Amino acid sequence: MCWIFGYKWVKKNAQNILLNWLRKLEYRGYDSAWIAVWNEKWDFSIVKAKWKISNLASEIENEKWDFNFWISHTRWATHWWVALENCHPHTDSKWKFTIVHNWIIENFSKLKKDLVEKWYKFYGETDTEVIAKLLEENFDWDLFITVEKVLPKLEWAFALLVMHKDFPWDIVWVKYWSPLVFWEQKWEFYFSSDIWALWGVIENVIYLEDWDLVFVKWDEFIIKSEWKLTQKPFEKIDIDLTVAEKWDFKHFMLKEIFEQPEILRRLYWWRIDWEENKLVANALQELEHLSIKKITFVACWTSYHAWLLGAYWLENFAWMDVKVEVASEFIFKNFNVSKDRLFIFISQSWETADTIEALKLVKERWWNTFWIVNVVGSTISRMTDTWMFLRAWTEVWVASTKAFTAQCWIIFLLALYFWKNKNSEKNLSHKEFLEKISDLKKIPNILEKILWDFEKIKNISKKIFKYQNFFFLWRHYQLPIAYESSLKLKEISYLHSEAYPAGELKHWPLALIDEDFISVIFAPNDSFLNQNISAMQEIKARKWKVLLISDSDEIEDFWADFTIKIPEISEDFYPFLTTIVWQLLSYEIADLLWKDIDKPRNLAKSVTVK
Ligand code: F6R
Repeated sequence: MCWIFGYKWVKKNAQNILLNWLRKLEYRGYDSAWIAVWNEKWDFSIVKAKWKISNLASEIENEKWDFNFWISHTRWATHWWVALENCHPHTDSKWKFTIVHNWIIENFSKLKKDLVEKWYKFYGETDTEVIAKLLEENFDWDLFITVEKVLPKLEWAFALLVMHKDFPWDIVWVKYWSPLVFWEQKWEFYFSSDIWALWGVIENVIYLEDWDLVFVKWDEFIIKSEWKLTQKPFEKIDIDLTVAEKWDFKHFMLKEIFEQPEILRRLYWWRIDWEENKLVANALQELEHLSIKKITFVACWTSYHAWLLGAYWLENFAWMDVKVEVASEFIFKNFNVSKDRLFIFISQSWETADTIEALKLVKERWWNTFWIVNVVGSTISRMTDTWMFLRAWTEVWVASTKAFTAQCWIIFLLALYFWKNKNSEKNLSHKEFLEKISDLKKIPNILEKILWDFEKIKNISKKIFKYQNFFFLWRHYQLPIAYESSLKLKEISYLHSEAYPAGELKHWPLALIDEDFISVIFAPNDSFLNQNISAMQEIKARKWKVLLISDSDEIEDFWADFTIKIPEISEDFYPFLTTIVWQLLSYEIADLLWKDIDKPRNLAKSVTVK
């Protein structure tokens, strides 16, 4: 989740350039940041600052560094608390090595114990400091040889940058799992955990693979892959980041919420061929030759919620056998592979460690994998057999909004695809297909209507933001959205919230409710209306508070304490509407509570650690 950036040998006074790049990558971790530069004493001048990049910017405001070799880093703390002694870069006992590290060394406690027995003293608690001391212990008078000696002792996973005071022109980069890209031209060397930082600055990169090492010596470099010399091609950076600006919105999150209708509209025209009346995606053609009857969906949290919803659609439309797995648990399972099973993964950020590991496990068993991913050139899209792009434009800040709705949208199309092509029990007729896609077409306009009514949502937020607990009781297609809405609220407002299937209320969660709770009931005017209203009455009978969301014209007659009326739509599509309503409510509640919405505490955008 940390992010490393290295920049060697070009512009002097590069601190503002680096600060800008750090700002671009701040979403990956904002517990601390630093910048370092080689100084005239052949040593590093290092400035560290806790928390945001703006703190670092004020620390270095008056520095006039006139040097050519720069590195920088933002950190999301994995080991020990956020204190300057735990901030990178780390060093050995003689202050010779300077190292930066992304991801986690899993065997660090054992390594540390061995080093302590050899009388090494530690100033902090990080796993990175252990690498520094290990380099010292194995020092072989050559930086590259020393790094090569130490690497086999480290248990995954990492990207590392290593320098040594006595070899000021050398630098070693290692990639094992954690993403890393590299670019060199005319003595300029750029290394970054993320292509986004480099976008707009350079056009091509080398994507390093696991166990790639890059040795830079003065103005030359070599790459070793699995210990052998190799050459790698430069590839064009192909990402759409033109919308990574906040415009006039108060927060990135709000801007990303408002982008949703347009993203869905574009996805619609892009994925549906109106001449032929069919879905368009090369990836779908690749599926034609597989006889798939069963699907396992794998993802992490918000993306996992999108799969939960997808499972309802696939089971209902295509009658398929669908399993939904959360990646961090799936990796411990003895999962079944069979010829008719496809494993489908989904990720917005493209670098989620747990999901990547799950993918690797499936691939080790040579099984069919399919990815839905948001960014071209990402680690995931480079690893899988078949993939489909979300094209939700880059989601910049932490709380996922537009990527989630785009995921649901694509999954809906996938469900139609399987319904049409893979289901022998009840095939999708052309008429049904046209009905579904013409309903789908209405959604962006309906979402816009909800957005135009933001003032109404603001008014409701003002009435409920002082409650300490929220309880989402939804059912059927709405249940995954209840999980997601509950997550959204707690993620940015830090309020306690839970989500349950509405039918389970009487099985025990009712015991939890008291006057500090708002129970949120979604009761659309569909076949479940009466059951949902009954759940509401069970709560009202105890005089606790209810917020009712419904498209029913009788909404005011149900005696809820607070109501939100949403437009009517066929029941398959309610999830899009309720999602956006709760994104807005969560946003507004967090804003009323003065929370740092784009940078919620303890979080980072991409979870690149296990
Ligand atoms: C919540 C959120 C996370 C991510 C999860 C998986 O708003 O963003 O729960 O959904 O970390 O991330 P991706 O989809 O990037 O693999």
